[in-house]
Amino acid sequence: MQDSLTKIKFIILLFYYWGQAIFTHFIPRRLRFKKIDEEIVLITGAGSGLGRILATKLSKSVSHLILWDLNEIGLNETAKLVREEGGSCSTYVVDVSNRHMVYETADRMSKEVGAVSMVINNAGIVNGKELLQLPNDKIVKTFEVNVLAHYWICKAFIPNMMKKNKGHIVTISSVVGFFGASNLSDYAGSKYAATRFHECLQLELLDAGYDGINFTLVCPYFMNTKMFEGAKALILSNQKVEYVADEIIAAIRTNQTHLYLPKPFYIIHTIKSLLPTRSLYALNTAMGGRKAMSDFVGGLRK
Ligand SMILES: NC(=O)c1ccc[n+]([C@@H]2O[C@H](COP(=O)([O-])OP(=O)(O)OC[C@H]3O[C@@H](n4cnc5c(N)ncnc54)[C@H](O)[C@@H]3O)[C@@H](O)[C@H]2O)c1
Ligand SMILES: *[C@@H]1O[C@H](CO)[C@@H](O)[C@H](O)[C@H]1NC(C)=O
Ligand SMILES: *[C@@H]1O[C@H](CO)[C@@H](O)[C@H](O)[C@H]1NC(C)=O
Ligand SMILES: *[C@@H]1O[C@H](CO)[C@@H](O)[C@H](O)[C@H]1NC(C)=O
Ligand SMILES: *[C@@H]1O[C@H](CO)[C@@H](O)[C@H](O)[C@H]1NC(C)=O
Repeated sequence: MQDSLTKIKFIILLFYYWGQAIFTHFIPRRLRFKKIDEEIVLITGAGSGLGRILATKLSKSVSHLILWDLNEIGLNETAKLVREEGGSCSTYVVDVSNRHMVYETADRMSKEVGAVSMVINNAGIVNGKELLQLPNDKIVKTFEVNVLAHYWICKAFIPNMMKKNKGHIVTISSVVGFFGASNLSDYAGSKYAATRFHECLQLELLDAGYDGINFTLVCPYFMNTKMFEGAKALILSNQKVEYVADEIIAAIRTNQTHLYLPKPFYIIHTIKSLLPTRSLYALNTAMGGRKAMSDFVGGLRK
């Protein structure tokens, strides 16, 4: 009896969520933005690319930014841009793949800047080679940076969010988190793992009653940063990182749970699960997947 009631409740909720999604679609996003002016926001990989643009675009809206990166020169440049925009920030040179360093820095930070209320796990690396061309240690590193780091960082900062039942976890994954691609076996595997990590953590916190900690999963296709230099999207062009950053910030401010960019990936993602399983290779070819990485000059090919 209890069981069938839960199922009926689920079906009613499903229609409620669909209705809500359709309804909110017609309300301009800006009117739905949540206040973030008291947030202390940690951005990893803030020394270049998407992390830097997110930092500069958030600088005026949040209370304080904490910027992490391995690259001190890039980090200082981002901090300069944030301050020029009138924002307040602190920088820490952190290797997110080193969990001792993550925990030690988190400890130090809690005294220096207070409790982090939003984490944007953005640092990432890519090699871009066929499996047999990938050195073992590079494979391990990809997983350490792109997914294991999320475990250490969330373990370090979630306890404070739980105390207040308030916070936001943002995971920068990738469309290859749900789509395989040649030359990306390590990268795509790590992004798939990061996607599932994000989902599990969200469910765990909800199970434990923490409904005030929001989660946003971001899955972008190629952007014009240095990371995927030379890689090309054939059916959809490479997107501007500024656009991606604007969409991420809007998603955060409306508590959106999933963000696929560019938007056709909402459909492509759905279609993939409906197509005959044997058509995967043909679909990949049709989408330009077989040529996407052929002129790639980043990662190990630098
Ligand atoms: N560029 C794309 O086309 C694309 C597409 C989908 C997803 N993404 C994802 O977006 C995120 C940002 O990528 P980007 O394009 O801005 O790349 P980027 O290379 O410009 O920036 C990544 C930053 O992470 C830092 N970093 C790397 N290893 C680190 C470590 N161990 N500790 C701390 N910092 C470290 C780098 O120094 C760099 O500043 C990544 O997670 C990436 O996987 C990028
Ligand atoms: C970055 O900035 C800090 C603080 O201003 C300074 O101490 C450090 O030398 C700078 N590092 C580099 C590599 O420029
Ligand atoms: C987002 O979630 C927070 C806490 O969970 C809530 O206070 C806020 O009103 C929500 N905002 C929007 C726009 O959904
Ligand atoms: C996130 O935000 C929404 C409001 O948009 C809220 O209803 C929800 O409970 C929040 N929490 C989680 C864990 O999604
Ligand atoms: C994979 O990388 C190799 C170089 O390491 C390149 O020659 C090849 O074209 C790439 N494959 C795809 C499908 O992009």
